[in-house]
Amino acid sequence: MKSARLAIFASGGGSNAYKICEYFQDHVNIVIAGILTNRKEAGVLQVADKFDIPAIVVDKNNLSDGVVENWLHDIKADMIILAGFLLLIPAPLITKFPNRILNIHPSLLPKYGGKGMHGHHVHEAVVKNDDTITGMTIHVVNEKYDDGQIIFQAKCAVKKDDTAEIVASNVLALEHFYYSKTIENYINGYLSDEKTN
Ligand code: GRF
Repeated sequence: MKSARLAIFASGGGSNAYKICEYFQDHVNIVIAGILTNRKEAGVLQVADKFDIPAIVVDKNNLSDGVVENWLHDIKADMIILAGFLLLIPAPLITKFPNRILNIHPSLLPKYGGKGMHGHHVHEAVVKNDDTITGMTIHVVNEKYDDGQIIFQAKCAVKKDDTAEIVASNVLALEHFYYSKTIENYINGYLSDEKTN
């Protein structure tokens, strides 16, 4: 069984980060090694506190000037999990972690992805376009926003009178339910295949 040390990157409230930390607490082969945020007021820092996980606050430049790379090295991270992280991951960092950075996006990609398409913007577009189905996507990260190989999607219905807030809450429930399990399957499946090839 492959073991993995994960670094979570998040810019916001951190409800997905919370669920991931809860799921992997006491896990047999997967450890949350650190939490990184680019906002010092981000709720995810409280998640780090609650689960006693080392945390770091960085700025955009630190993603390419070596600070983030050194931190990842110090905490011995071998995979990065984006959970509401709003900055683009620069190419050198992607090269350092090939197929080892995952992201979650609150739409059925390729619909409603790309720069600026995050959070309420996504759900407002779904409602405005009278979509009857939406959902969430978990994908491998490449150099573009929301563009890498899709590894998992889950759908939910959008009812005629649903507001963007209702859609957001239904999609977030899917994210909470599936993200940790998908990370675990990815590590125990895809990454172990990689090891034996
Ligand atoms: C989630 O909807 C996720 O899909 C998106 O950002 C949101 C993060 O929410 N990338 P939270 O901070 O985990 O509560």
